[in-house]
Amino acid sequence: MNFLNNAIVSFVKLLPKSIVFIFAKKYISGTTLQDAVNVVKDLNSKGITATLDVLGEAITTKEEAIEEKKECLRVLDVIEENKLDANLSIKPTSLGLSIDLKFFYENMVEVLTRAKKYKNFVRIDMEDSPYTSATIESFKKLQSEFDNVGVVLQAYLRRTEKDADELNKTKTNYRLCKGIYIEPEKIAFKNKQVVRDNYLKILEKMLIEECYVGIATHDDYLIQGAYQIIKKMNLSKDKYEFQMLYGVKEKIRDQIVKEGHKLKVYVPYGEKWYAYSMRRMQENPEIAGHIAKSVFKLG
Ligand code: FDA
Repeated sequence: MNFLNNAIVSFVKLLPKSIVFIFAKKYISGTTLQDAVNVVKDLNSKGITATLDVLGEAITTKEEAIEEKKECLRVLDVIEENKLDANLSIKPTSLGLSIDLKFFYENMVEVLTRAKKYKNFVRIDMEDSPYTSATIESFKKLQSEFDNVGVVLQAYLRRTEKDADELNKTKTNYRLCKGIYIEPEKIAFKNKQVVRDNYLKILEKMLIEECYVGIATHDDYLIQGAYQIIKKMNLSKDKYEFQMLYGVKEKIRDQIVKEGHKLKVYVPYGEKWYAYSMRRMQENPEIAGHIAKSVFKLG
């Protein structure tokens, strides 16, 4: 299936961007902040919270990173003005992590200071492995100064259990996901079941250490596994939440809410939708049918 998905996504990449957008738009709220606000209002009306993401990554100049930071500040202002139940997620390279660590840190301080003013929260996403250590080290420094910042760990990385053991000591606020980037076997588990087992093992440790965890997955096996841990520990609902991506598995999402768990949806928006949407398409086991149907409709 992975091979087929890769082949289909490679085919999609050959198409004009305007056509690619037809498939990509399922995964993004739109290209403007107002599009994202509309989606968040709708989610909030269903009892679902959101985390907003300004699309953009692998930024190469300080000027671009400053523009991204300004947009992050605008998002926080708009969340406040509209009284949205939402926070902000940030890809560290979008604020300059790959350019200059000090520059990234200063950008984060500015964003976290604004979020603090509004009693809001910022999550640092986790990107591919060249940035794992720098992200965690920057996070630790920020966490020592701010109580409104969290980080993401990826269960497919062999190092993650050790990272979690360390970060659990400071009661880190986590999002735990499988991990989306293509990493070498030397550093990442490749077997689906091994990743799942590692996910549940790390999740249980985080919760035992009383860390707040955003359980980010659409995998029924992991959702059921998380339910079992929650039940076994008799955890109250303010100690964790489930998290899902916009445009993915809405039925399960509604089921989780119906069962009384907190749920947050990751809502990306912006003009730089290409790389993010390609990753989502690659993960969609029904992408072949989806594209065939759309092409048929277009015809
Ligand atoms: P899996 O990929 O096995 O999916 C389970 C099932 O969900 C599939 O069988 C399919 O039915 C459905 N599904 C999944 N993706 C789909 C799609 N795109 N379209 C249609 N159906 C789909 N990763 C990362 O490296 N760093 C990060 O910071 C984040 N942040 C993040 C935030 C949130 C809120 C979520 C939910 C996920 C992330 N991720 C991430 C992505 C994560 O690492 C992972 O790649 C995806 O969640 C897919 O993994 P699942 O656990 O859902 O399992």
